[in-house]
Amino acid sequence: MAAAAVGRVCPAGVCLRGILMRLETRVRAAEPTPDTASIAFTAAERHAMRDALRLARRGIGGTHPNPRVGAVVLRDGAVLGRGWHARAGEAHAEAEALAKAGARARGATLVVTLEPCAHHGRTPPCVAAVLAAGIRRVVIGMIDPNPVVNGRGIEELRRAGLDVVVGLLEAECRSLNEPYLKALATGRPWVTLKAMVSLDGRLATDAGESRGLGGPEEQRLCHRLRAQHDAVLVGIGTVLADDPRLTVRHATGRSSWRVVLDSTLRVPETAALLEDAEAVPVVIATASRDAERARALERRGARVWRFEPDPDGRVPLRALLERLVAQGVYALLVEGGTAVHTAFLRAGFADRLAVGIAPLVVGGSAPRSWTGDLGRGALADAIEIADLRVRRVGRDLWLQGAIRGANGAPGTENDV
Ligand SMILES: NC(=O)c1ccc[n+]([C@@H]2O[C@H](COP(=O)([O-])OP(=O)(O)OC[C@H]3O[C@@H](n4cnc5c(N)ncnc54)[C@H](OP(=O)(O)O)[C@@H]3O)[C@@H](O)[C@H]2O)c1
Repeated sequence: MAAAAVGRVCPAGVCLRGILMRLETRVRAAEPTPDTASIAFTAAERHAMRDALRLARRGIGGTHPNPRVGAVVLRDGAVLGRGWHARAGEAHAEAEALAKAGARARGATLVVTLEPCAHHGRTPPCVAAVLAAGIRRVVIGMIDPNPVVNGRGIEELRRAGLDVVVGLLEAECRSLNEPYLKALATGRPWVTLKAMVSLDGRLATDAGESRGLGGPEEQRLCHRLRAQHDAVLVGIGTVLADDPRLTVRHATGRSSWRVVLDSTLRVPETAALLEDAEAVPVVIATASRDAERARALERRGARVWRFEPDPDGRVPLRALLERLVAQGVYALLVEGGTAVHTAFLRAGFADRLAVGIAPLVVGGSAPRSWTGDLGRGALADAIEIADLRVRRVGRDLWLQGAIRGANGAPGTENDV
């Protein structure tokens, strides 16, 4: 679940391109070139980096606004300690792995998916822990582009005489932290659009019924997906039609924030998602100035965020997304319906797609596709889904892929 933004976090809306370029120039000289990179790492280090990536994935759904990080302490091919960052405010991966290795870490190698931090956040700097442990060599997956780290960790380790190499399994390390990298680079969350449709591509029946389209396995998958994101967003149309709770009940993991797009505050005070709004935050994003209505919803535990309406009189998505990032919501799951998916695709704010297909032919005359008019009449203008993965989930099919043209690389490390 999202936590309030902490020291490590870049303020929302800050574009880091300039910082990244400066950083690249600063550390490139000391990094191995791609050619030498392949011989700069041992097989044991490569294996340990895969292990560290696996460990880091355990933090999915808990670390933001911090990155997901895994670390392994190695000597002569033997693993002395493993660690991962589970939650913002808790121990960093390096500190945990070093603590497990104890005195045996002296003279050993630390393999870590992301550059160790050199600053005081909610926990002490990892660089200090690495130096105190007597580590001799540090193998790093990728530089941390966060301006408070920004190559400083690498510099400090090198200045202290450690052998530091960067870039082992870098593509996987980047993929692991797509939401973090997207939030830092754009000030907006990494967005997954999720929909469950019938075999004839329908989101709901003519009467608006959509519950039960997916089988129990698909439902569990959907709840796992919720637990992996920092917030789940729906439109008011879905709240009025389905009265969903949007919590995690059929999978392990914490419930994420719930966000409703509701320009005129139509959400009923009796809505199911307000029942546990004290425990699992509900944000109602609105363009309404009805203070009385807002107060009534706040009394039910909701947080009402008011925005200047967009030209259509609706909640402005960009402003909402920036505010969510400022609250540590780096990974956002959009569960529709049609109007909301359409708005995200039209604005270019969606990064990843997850669509379930039920073996049901629903039929009907109302337009019930999971998207509406995208303003792309020609086939040549269709949005392409890259790196498509298809699998069977119980009786249903499950498709995941990257929305081509969206920021970042395909997020295969983030798939459920
Ligand atoms: N099968 C599935 O996976 C699934 C999932 C979800 C929903 N559904 C189905 O989808 C249907 C609901 O879809 P829907 O299209 O009617 O409604 P929706 O997409 O859930 O909500 C759309 C509404 O959100 C509000 N909104 C506020 N700001 C917006 C913005 N910037 N962009 C877009 N919308 C904004 C608008 O109402 P205001 O202007 O009044 O705020 C808009 O009419 C239901 O039948 C539901 O059962 C199916």
